[in-house]
Amino acid sequence: MAKIYGITSGKGGTGKTTSAINLAAAMNSFGENVLVVDANLSTPNIGLHLGSPLVPITLNHVLNGKTEVLEAIYEHNSGLKILPSSLSIKDLRKIKYENLPYITHQLKSFADHIILDSPAGLGIDVESVINSSDEIILVTQPEMPAVTDALKTVKLAEQLNKNIKGFIVTRYKRRKSEMSLDNIKDMLELPLLGIVPEDKNMQKALTLKNSIIYTHPKSKASKAYKNIARRILGREEKQSFFSRFFK
Ligand SMILES: Nc1ncnc2c1ncn2[C@@H]1O[C@H](COP(=O)(O)OP(=O)(O)OP(=O)(O)O)[C@@H](O)[C@H]1O
Ligand SMILES: [Mg+2]
Repeated sequence: MAKIYGITSGKGGTGKTTSAINLAAAMNSFGENVLVVDANLSTPNIGLHLGSPLVPITLNHVLNGKTEVLEAIYEHNSGLKILPSSLSIKDLRKIKYENLPYITHQLKSFADHIILDSPAGLGIDVESVINSSDEIILVTQPEMPAVTDALKTVKLAEQLNKNIKGFIVTRYKRRKSEMSLDNIKDMLELPLLGIVPEDKNMQKALTLKNSIIYTHPKSKASKAYKNIARRILGREEKQSFFSRFFK
């Protein structure tokens, strides 16, 4: 059964889009059928990150009933499927967010893993992403404002009766000034899915308009996202069995 994951955080700039793209690319690199959706309709970034900024038909058109969802799905040269949003300000008017759960449900016929990149905040746009998701994945940085806002997102997801799979800590620098992982775990009371270190290759991948999974497959961030993707897909057990076997 196909599954929809909502990548959300509360606070802006924590690494949601980076996580959505790289988790999707990692799953795609394992041979999974994956679709990443730019559900951040006010400040969409997925097309920019993956080198397809301007496309004629977008999620905006689908939400407003102007076209069928299949018409708005594009394919990256890696095979990863993308449903972008419009960069045009005029397409922002009167977006029917309430249609997102129905539209994303339709996507289950086109991919096995659907990853929704959420906007920041706790508004109606974020609520529609949470309502559209089977499971929520929280993204936070190791700092109090980000974790506090992540906690508010937890409460919102609970109010909407949504399961939270766990959280990812991004841009981890191993500095004393950062919040400790134990502190973050104590506050969020959720499983830690993985830690993504600060990695200068992330900016290089952005310049190359591609996922770090493909531009710098051996980088620290790339390895971290692959491990998190394995955990989400439930492939970890197999790995640890083999590593035990070879030990
Ligand atoms: N592990 C990392 N190492 C270095 N830079 C990173 C890392 N993760 C994210 N970044 C950078 O942090 C910035 C913010 O990331 P991103 O756009 O993914 O955040 P966001 O949560 O989607 O933001 P918004 O709330 O505006 O949608 C980007 O410039 C991105 O390249
Ligand atoms: Mg974003």
